[in-house]
Amino acid sequence: MNIIRFKIKYIAAIFSLCLSVSVKAQLHIIPQPLHLTEQKGAFVLSGKAVIGVDKESEAVGKYLQDYLATNYKLNLKLKVYPKIPIATAIQLVTMVSNKEGAYSLNVKPGSVKIAGNGAGVFYGVQSLLQLLPAKAIAPLKITTCAIADEPRFQWRGLSLDVSRHFFTVEEVKKYIDVMAHYKLNVFHWHLTDDEGWRIQIDKYPKLTEVGSKISFYEKQGKFRKLDNLIDGGRDGFYTKNDIREVIKYAQARYVTILPEIEMPGHSEAAIFAYPELGCQDSTGAKHRVRMLDPSEHTFGFMEDVLTEVIALFPNQYIHIGGDEAEMIDWLKSPAAVALMKKEGLKNEKEIQSYFIKRIEKFLLSKNKKLVGWDEILQGGLAESATVMSWQGEAGGIAAAQMHHHVVMTPLPYMYFDAPQANEELEPVGWNPPVTWQMVYNYEPQSKELSPQEAEYILGAQGNIWAEKVPNALHLQYMVYPRALAVAELTWSSKANKNINRFEYKMKQQYGYFKLWNLNARLPNIVGMDNIVTNSNQFGLVLQYPLLGAQIRYSVNGKMPDSNAKAQGFPVNISAMLKDSLVLKTYTTWTLNKQHIFQVATIKHANITASNVDQAGLIPGLGYELIKSKETNFAKLDTTVIATSAVVNTTNPMVLPVTDGDLTWVKMSGYLKIDVDGDYELTSGFEVSPALFLDGKPVIYKNKNTYVEPQKALLHLKKGVYNLSGYYIADNINRMQDLLLLKEAATDKLVDPGKYMFH
Ligand code: ACM
Repeated sequence: MNIIRFKIKYIAAIFSLCLSVSVKAQLHIIPQPLHLTEQKGAFVLSGKAVIGVDKESEAVGKYLQDYLATNYKLNLKLKVYPKIPIATAIQLVTMVSNKEGAYSLNVKPGSVKIAGNGAGVFYGVQSLLQLLPAKAIAPLKITTCAIADEPRFQWRGLSLDVSRHFFTVEEVKKYIDVMAHYKLNVFHWHLTDDEGWRIQIDKYPKLTEVGSKISFYEKQGKFRKLDNLIDGGRDGFYTKNDIREVIKYAQARYVTILPEIEMPGHSEAAIFAYPELGCQDSTGAKHRVRMLDPSEHTFGFMEDVLTEVIALFPNQYIHIGGDEAEMIDWLKSPAAVALMKKEGLKNEKEIQSYFIKRIEKFLLSKNKKLVGWDEILQGGLAESATVMSWQGEAGGIAAAQMHHHVVMTPLPYMYFDAPQANEELEPVGWNPPVTWQMVYNYEPQSKELSPQEAEYILGAQGNIWAEKVPNALHLQYMVYPRALAVAELTWSSKANKNINRFEYKMKQQYGYFKLWNLNARLPNIVGMDNIVTNSNQFGLVLQYPLLGAQIRYSVNGKMPDSNAKAQGFPVNISAMLKDSLVLKTYTTWTLNKQHIFQVATIKHANITASNVDQAGLIPGLGYELIKSKETNFAKLDTTVIATSAVVNTTNPMVLPVTDGDLTWVKMSGYLKIDVDGDYELTSGFEVSPALFLDGKPVIYKNKNTYVEPQKALLHLKKGVYNLSGYYIADNINRMQDLLLLKEAATDKLVDPGKYMFH
């Protein structure tokens, strides 16, 4: 066999500042506007420009003025007009619009004009800020363009758990600030949980005097061990004035705050402060008490707390939690048993339903709407509740089918406490990794919903739980850039979603992240893929999208650290390949001295053609469906539910079962090669699949978790090769290509009808 040297070509978008690679510069607004026309020419922003506003847009004008002063050292004049003169450099015009958040932005060589309703003008300003260069160096050129934009969903959320680790008012404000830049508009503030009560309640001062100091009490040996909390938690609480300050700050950025007061579970901190609220085990056994007893005393307490919460928050929604309640505790509680008898409740789920419905009634009496996690469906859903679907999509789908409003925030896609790449190389997190690509590909309106039912999906939300998030820098690392994917999937039209363009735009944002000192996780090196090849020599060019980044690397299996020799990108790596080599990298950029690790394995495989008779081959791969809870295909109990079907496109559209089991697809057939040459075989799936060629794994991970980019770079002679594999049919995979075959020489995709047979 010839010695072949594959060069990796980079078709992915590359940061325009990177000198060694050039990609056409594009406007990089996130989320993608509905209509955007780029024109030739530029508006040059100088300190002499005037911001002209009307009365209604004055506050947004002031916001823009402050932003330009802080970030660009430009001190523009702000003038309020009854009618803004057309010669004004920057015009913020209030217009009546029946679509909340809609705006137009027109950049001409002589002026910038933004028109919209209140939120619309603010969003137009955010788009304008993303047209500015990220470096504050004159001349500040803004490409001329015309934008007409509006959001797809009304709920574009991001949560923050301040219970497991407390975050200060300043840290919360920064969180809201960055949300607003990307047109996210609901800040879900998880204010109470087992490990801390964070909001001042006048009637119950011990909630904060005691319940906000859990970390302190744990150190005193008076609270159980906080085993799950990195650095032992962080104590603190918000006074009512703090809360008012944050609300005002958020209002100025068109962000509504959804306060969450957890009940009936996750209430250990409140019960620690006021033990009489807790569910007393009738045996008197001491165990962790985090369930509220469903007694009249507890209902009175909750109504008092909610009364004070409602007085603070102008938002129409109040989140009452409802998740993960250890309802079994109730069966031994005299108060719960008495309640069951009195109300004719059959089991603990009906107690929960009673609890939530009673709280809903109270909220409705105060003109507030109840939001709860999907467990509130159990035992009967409260009449007007909005459901946050977190345990996958099933709860949200069921609720929408019952004509309840739903916010989709399903595991794993919307859970940002998961690591963003290989979990062995990232800071410790919950759950298997969730990449920004997985987030981006999430579609909130499930195909299982009719168009009418889909209307009940208010939007989607990214969640972060702070057990493993000890400080604000780490919080930013976990949330960004993934939250940008939430911004685009909730704001942009379905037709405007484009993952390659998003990747380009996302990488452009690092300039702004630097400007804002936002510690977003660094992008991965482009070209660090796990590769299987039948070549004996290997050559790779590593590129990085951020100018000034440095790499340390090894091919000897040792993880490089800051002591290793650093070099700039691009990096050429060339090696003889006997069996396999492991490339390990340590990448740094100027922002906060952050570093990321990556590992890629380059493996050698002998691939030989099969001697099957080609005459009898049928187009498409054969497949069998297997329904199972197993996440590792190697351990599948092969109970086949359908057989002999054919996969005849790259995107097989197998419908998953929806009863909680996984639908595995076991494929078998042949890869037919018509011309000798170099080929690249990849899969668009981010989760699973496993593909074998000539019985050798070429794309492979034995678990149903995120796989790092994998590809096979193979020199293949004309012939027919055994192809088999597994993948999980789910709604995300359905949108991706199962198998792509490309001619390395021309970069051209081969028509799947020509190579998939069985
Ligand atoms: C949740 O993640 N327990 C809502």
